[in-house]
Amino acid sequence: WDHDRGDLKSAIRTIPDYPKPGILFRDITTLLGDARAFRRAIDELVQPWCGAKIDKVAGMEARGFILGGAVAHQLSAGFVPIRKKGKLPHTKVSIAYSLEYGLDEMEIHQDAVIAGEKVILVDDLVATGGTAVGAVSLLKKIGADVVAACFVIDLPDLGGADKIRELGVPVRTLVSFPGH
Ligand code: PRP
Ligand code: MG
Repeated sequence: WDHDRGDLKSAIRTIPDYPKPGILFRDITTLLGDARAFRRAIDELVQPWCGAKIDKVAGMEARGFILGGAVAHQLSAGFVPIRKKGKLPHTKVSIAYSLEYGLDEMEIHQDAVIAGEKVILVDDLVATGGTAVGAVSLLKKIGADVVAACFVIDLPDLGGADKIRELGVPVRTLVSFPGH
């Protein structure tokens, strides 16, 4: 049974030349503001995990918090924030990750999971995979069993989903924009 996700795709707004000339920005604020599309996206993200015992959902600041929080609630799982540097108050682990230009750092609390807990990672979009690869590394460092990485949007030409799969983490995406 193949999902028709045209409704999800059409709820995503495309902004040409943002933030730079030549970039097509895939804007999920229109999806989030559309009650049916938002529910549909969350339902589709959680669907493979309904019968599984997922302990926690991890989301990357900022857009991963919106989707990941809703997914965690629906799975009756805990939520783990992965934050940009300098925002977490307790003992933490940091990792540098690659952005389009240069490096940034993100952090997780050392005690955010108990060793061996099953965690799914959620974000809005995978592009180069730099953010998600860094997040998977952080989760593994604190002892999580990362069972999957889930995204609403894949930009397949940028190869990020493949980089995550190379780490042994299955990837699920709902809609794809080839050519980005
Ligand atoms: C965007 C998006 C993903 C990431 C994907 O976040 O929300 O987290 O980029 O890109 P990548 O696969 O090349 O790493 P951004 O860093 O713009 O920040 P935001 O979520 O705080 O808006
Ligand atoms: Mg982001």
